Amino acid sequence: KLTEATGALIGKGNYRHFMEKEIHEQPEVMGYTLFHYYRSADRSIALPDLPFDPASLPKLTIVAAGTSFYAGMVAKYWFETLARIPVEIDIASEFRYRNPVMPEGGAALFISQSGESLDTLMALRHARDGGQHIVALVNQPESTIARESDVVLETLAGPEICVASTKAFTTQLVALLTLAVDFARRRGSASKEQLDAVMDSLVHLPAQIGEVLKETEKWLPVSHELSKVRDVLYLGRGLSYPIAMEGALKLKELSYIHAEGYAAGEMKHGPIALLEEGVPVIMVAPMDPWFEKVASNAMEVRARGGRVILLSDRSGINRLGDLATWSFELPECDPMVAPILYTIPVQLLSYFTAAEKGTDVDQPRNLAKSVTVE
Ligand code: G6P
Repeated sequence: KLTEATGALIGKGNYRHFMEKEIHEQPEVMGYTLFHYYRSADRSIALPDLPFDPASLPKLTIVAAGTSFYAGMVAKYWFETLARIPVEIDIASEFRYRNPVMPEGGAALFISQSGESLDTLMALRHARDGGQHIVALVNQPESTIARESDVVLETLAGPEICVASTKAFTTQLVALLTLAVDFARRRGSASKEQLDAVMDSLVHLPAQIGEVLKETEKWLPVSHELSKVRDVLYLGRGLSYPIAMEGALKLKELSYIHAEGYAAGEMKHGPIALLEEGVPVIMVAPMDPWFEKVASNAMEVRARGGRVILLSDRSGINRLGDLATWSFELPECDPMVAPILYTIPVQLLSYFTAAEKGTDVDQPRNLAKSVTVE
């Protein structure tokens, strides 16, 4: 209800749907979120005061639902790789009914656009009972989850009207990567050069995304093809695995096409059985340490008659473009930043496919913006 009222107030401008508008707002709101915490002049990060010392944090538990959960999955890689913190992640509806081992002095991070998802709120209370320091990352600082947390980090995405989350997700990722870099600095767990390179790439990202968003027509032919199919596979590895999951979620919720997101290495344990002539397989494949593994998965797909839709950068497309039915070149960026960049094509593919099918893009059937019931 709040969403509808705010939506009427805000308006779609020259866009057909709120989703399209919110996709295009991303460079701007990612910039707001980044520079809320980061100063590029001296590369300093300023966070709210924390009730624990990240240098001696024994464990970080991340809990969220829906698209926010996929932001948490990406963050797990960042906190592990850069900050060397043991990370456990779970979906809120599972976590709240488990009996997880929570170490004394541990922290639990709750990611939520609305700050009102009931499962996430109940999981937060569960973690508090388990003696954890509670950190929230929300887009609504007045929300219940924010109020019940020890520390609140904000995404400055502005009101998100479309049920499917876009700008809240990318701003969550910007805040989470900044937080992981801050923790890494305090723990001395990564080199200054590496962390500076990550932040420099993050600073350039909004402009790079702006470039990608200037050429949205090029996604129309492939979206037209996708709108005709029944099943789609989305594959990625490492940092791209959660983006494949998010891509599949977006495609199914907006266009009602059956889409599965999988870790590419797991394809041989099941989804490969779905492959037959013409099945589209979208590969999220920046040139990163996992690229060669994903390349061999792409060859397997091709050998079974699947149509590869390749999302990569120039070197990845030079390497694999020949076997792809469609390739889309994304700008080069630091591999740590790539999951944020590769979210954009995943959003565009689901948006244009749904628009082509004529589904209710902003308010898909059976879904709610904020789920405050169990
Ligand atoms: C609902 C929405 C999703 C959202 C999820 C979690 O399912 O339709 O777009 O990702 O809730 O919401 P939250 O507000 O907690 O991020």
